[in-house]
Amino acid sequence: MPGTSAILLDMKKQIVVIGSLNMDLVALSPRIPRPGETLLGHEFRTAPGGKGANQAVAAARLGGDVAMVGRVGADDFGDALLANLQANRVAHDWVLRDADAASGVAIIVVDDVGENSIVVLSGANMRLTPADVEAAESVIARSGVMLLQLESPLDAVTRAAELGRRHGATVVLNPAPARPLPPELLSLVDVLIPNETETTMLTGLPVSDEADMRAAAAALQSRGVGAVILTLGERGAFLIHDDVAQHIPAFAVQPVDTTAAGDAFVGGFAVALAEGRPLAEAVRWGNAAGALAATGLGAQPSLPRRAAVEALLRK
Ligand code: RIB
Repeated sequence: MPGTSAILLDMKKQIVVIGSLNMDLVALSPRIPRPGETLLGHEFRTAPGGKGANQAVAAARLGGDVAMVGRVGADDFGDALLANLQANRVAHDWVLRDADAASGVAIIVVDDVGENSIVVLSGANMRLTPADVEAAESVIARSGVMLLQLESPLDAVTRAAELGRRHGATVVLNPAPARPLPPELLSLVDVLIPNETETTMLTGLPVSDEADMRAAAAALQSRGVGAVILTLGERGAFLIHDDVAQHIPAFAVQPVDTTAAGDAFVGGFAVALAEGRPLAEAVRWGNAAGALAATGLGAQPSLPRRAAVEALLRK
């Protein structure tokens, strides 16, 4: 990874997101049901989601110039997911319609204290190919920041990272949902944004205190990762880069639904980075966007606008 100042001086403004689009089917319930249990819930809602699309829309709502690469089915959900990108000013020329697979769906239960459980049925998302990514090389070449997650096939994610690296984009990987990663992918990542569970899954190390976090980040950096930003939920984030190891506290809010709070963090971080802000300040943008997203119901309905993030940052 180039030094932070090199990243910032050379930055192109476009953000490209390679990832998933899902329709979220959300049950609001007094609590998450136990195995074998049936509960009477409060309410049912649908909302556009998917980690990739959430991060794309989060960045666009904060003023980012965003393009998305992915796959949806040739079905009603696919129509709605594309219309939603359009409504949020996310360029979607590189989101393909797949006649042979359904659009991705996520079944989400949100309880009365804002915790959730999610099952993703990936459908068309898992049919994204390295060739699909190569077909988007022109927009990748224009991009200063590339956002990747793990709801897409690893060969497509790895190809995206290779092209991002080749064209000088800052490659940001949010390794969610957690799964083991090939070394070649990690070695192409400039900024890794895992939560605690994902960090332990990737390193085999616990992350209960600051010494643990430094050790886990060092393990990731020894595999080629540049900066590591460990997201800690209501405790904020821990940034480790070069000789900097810094805890950046969260903004205190009353959570209603934490779905997509992590995606809002990544979107906010990306916009700040694309605007040339230093890493620590970009993490504050991520914290602010994530905190605000947790105060609303649903994935994309809760993603904040720029004015709200700027107001929180001023506090
Ligand atoms: O990160 C939240 C997202 O995870 C939801 O929108 C759901 O679609 C799953 O992808």
